[in-house]
Amino acid sequence: MPLRQPKITALGCYTPPGVLTNFDLEKMVKTNNDWILERTGIAERHIAPPEMATSDLAFEAARAALAQRGMDAADVDAILVCTVTPDMLFPATACLVQERLGASRAWGFDLIAACSGFLYGLNTGAALVASGHHKNVLVIGADTMSRIIDYTDRSTCILFGDGAGAMLIEPAEDGEEGLGFVDFVGQIDGSGAEFLKMPAGGSRVPASIATVEGRMHYVHQEGQQVFKYAVRKMFDMCDGLLRRNGLTIDDLALLIPHQANRRIIDATAERLGLPAGKVVINIERYGNTTAGTIPLATGTALEEGRLKKGDLIIYAAVGAGYTAGASLWRWAY
Ligand SMILES: CC(C)(COP(=O)(O)OP(=O)(O)OC[C@H]1O[C@@H](n2cnc3c(N)ncnc32)[C@H](O)[C@@H]1OP(=O)(O)O)[C@@H](O)C(=O)NCCC(=O)NCCS
Repeated sequence: MPLRQPKITALGCYTPPGVLTNFDLEKMVKTNNDWILERTGIAERHIAPPEMATSDLAFEAARAALAQRGMDAADVDAILVCTVTPDMLFPATACLVQERLGASRAWGFDLIAACSGFLYGLNTGAALVASGHHKNVLVIGADTMSRIIDYTDRSTCILFGDGAGAMLIEPAEDGEEGLGFVDFVGQIDGSGAEFLKMPAGGSRVPASIATVEGRMHYVHQEGQQVFKYAVRKMFDMCDGLLRRNGLTIDDLALLIPHQANRRIIDATAERLGLPAGKVVINIERYGNTTAGTIPLATGTALEEGRLKKGDLIIYAAVGAGYTAGASLWRWAY
């Protein structure tokens, strides 16, 4: 089959209605609004109600993307759900979403790359379309981080929120060859595994009364280690990708970065020499939704009228693993 040019044709976003503000957190742990705002840029985050799980967030985002495109779920060829908070370890959350959507012809799978999850999913989805074997691929980033956050640990509980976003990838039409996917660079580095993880619940340390009592089913993070790595790698990934394509920041319309900490984004933009007007930040409203941040930030850029057909954008993320990456797209609608 011939290689096809992949393009993004629709975006759906979903955040649950409940909001946890910094002032709410002040009543839960020893922290305060000023510290959180200054150190992270976060003012509030959305939290899913107890009856909602990741497949529910993913379903809502996917349904919105399909509705925007006017596409029947039965026309979807593949569903990728990027998440570190699946409903269960197995079956894959992609299967649960497939069933609810009624995507009767689809295959799919879950992809674990933490905060780089959506970026990796987008690249994988693009490769499926480019292969010529798939036409309509749904890539969903969804995380219910509130289920794995220790709300007695002030250094992590302030950072994360729940949310999801979905993008539809399809082949470009004849005459649209310049639109869509341009390039991707990714790198994993397991030497960072110990600095950001959920220690128990897998085959290394299975769930037991001791692991629950030891609070080992929550996110454990060495914040400063992750921070330093993220600042370095976000820049390296973006800079490397631009150079490899013979591009400069003047060619870019927007940087749409993973939203982990406003200071990481600001430092990346500053090192790249990007003016604030070319950087999308919505962390104040959502916190870090892990695989949800990049589609949610794309939604913000569209809402604000900052993204239009033909614009060259760069996505970038760093996450647990470590995982890192950046990708270039020419926006297609
Ligand atoms: C977690 C993070 C916000 C902490 O900010 P920081 O500036 O590195 O702060 P430190 O960890 O050095 O802690 C400084 C002090 O603030 C305290 N502190 C930590 N969390 C606090 C909170 N919520 N409120 C008030 N004080 C807090 C610490 O206990 C420490 O106090 P001490 O000096 O008395 O020991 C920051 O490290 C970070 O964002 N790291 C990256 C996280 C990330 O992006 N993770 C996802 C990966 S994609």
